[in-house]
Amino acid sequence: MHVFVAGATGAVGRRLVPRLLARGHRVTATTRSAAKAGELRALGADAVVLDGLDAAAVGQAVAGARPDAIVHQMTALAGQPNLRRFDDWFATTNELRTQGTQHLLAAAQATGVERFVAQSYTGWTNARTGGPVKTEDDPLDAEPAAAQRKTMAAVRFLERTVRDAPLDGIVLRYGNFYGPGASESQVELVRARKLPIIGSGAGVWSWIHLDDAAEATIAALERGTAGVYQIVDDEPAPVAQWLPYLAEVLGAKPPMRVPVWLGRLAAGEVAVRWMTESRGASNEKAKNALDWRPGFASWRDGFRNGLVDAPAPGVAS
Ligand SMILES: NC(=O)c1ccc[n+]([C@@H]2O[C@H](COP(=O)([O-])OP(=O)(O)OC[C@H]3O[C@@H](n4cnc5c(N)ncnc54)[C@H](OP(=O)(O)O)[C@@H]3O)[C@@H](O)[C@H]2O)c1
Repeated sequence: MHVFVAGATGAVGRRLVPRLLARGHRVTATTRSAAKAGELRALGADAVVLDGLDAAAVGQAVAGARPDAIVHQMTALAGQPNLRRFDDWFATTNELRTQGTQHLLAAAQATGVERFVAQSYTGWTNARTGGPVKTEDDPLDAEPAAAQRKTMAAVRFLERTVRDAPLDGIVLRYGNFYGPGASESQVELVRARKLPIIGSGAGVWSWIHLDDAAEATIAALERGTAGVYQIVDDEPAPVAQWLPYLAEVLGAKPPMRVPVWLGRLAAGEVAVRWMTESRGASNEKAKNALDWRPGFASWRDGFRNGLVDAPAPGVAS
């Protein structure tokens, strides 16, 4: 298969491109940087320097490559997180999820591409009512925090647009990433005891190692049919479980605990919701339909053995 990977140098792309090549697929890989294009070529991919928000350039790049499938992994999250101004932090990512998706889909249809796989997310986007673990059929949060409304709208737009497109449109809702390139800032916070448990810590998170996210993406490309799939590990867990465990694995002191009012004052509503009300995700559909299993079935093993020095080769970030 000839796969066009838009956003080939990000957290997933760096692991996806070498794996696709190793499986005998041809890869056209995009980045905005000429230097990173050289690195992608060195791996064996055809590289294209591309701004995903430039409709004409996207159209030309896809028409020039004539791929069988497109994978949309473009986000713009490498900067400093800002939970209080979440929609500002995600502004470019939201454009990549709306306009960027439209540009790629238009190019796909113009060129006769049959399969389209797009990155989405599962976590704070889930409805904060009912049971702790959600399936693809459960509703998303109808009342996101005020700071996350635009980001939620962009997620909904991406999922709807890909699902409704007249080709095999596959949405992969990845859980919270961990692994080299995804965990460094969080590890630093935990080591410095700057990531406290807010309130009960009953918010449930689903995690996924970056290598497992890449493998699931290949499974979707090779075996997936149109639809939404949650790509998470087997053990959704409350913050009150995984955060002290992560501290222990890192040899750090246990996380502080702060009451909700103080958490809200210090970190804002988004952080409070994440720690107290989040819902996890089921991976049953992905396991059954994609014949995929996470290599790290639980974050317990993954935090211990997968935070650093992943064996897979990749492009330097
Ligand atoms: N589910 C999750 O938990 C989740 C999801 C996504 C990201 N994250 C985290 O966010 C952090 C940053 O993510 P990341 O490493 O993937 O980096 P990123 O800065 O979000 O970039 C991702 C990809 O998008 C490309 N890109 C960015 N803007 C673009 C544009 N205008 N046009 C075309 N391509 C564009 C980047 O390519 P170039 O910069 O080379 O052009 C890169 O290949 C990581 O810690 C990651 O784990 C977490």
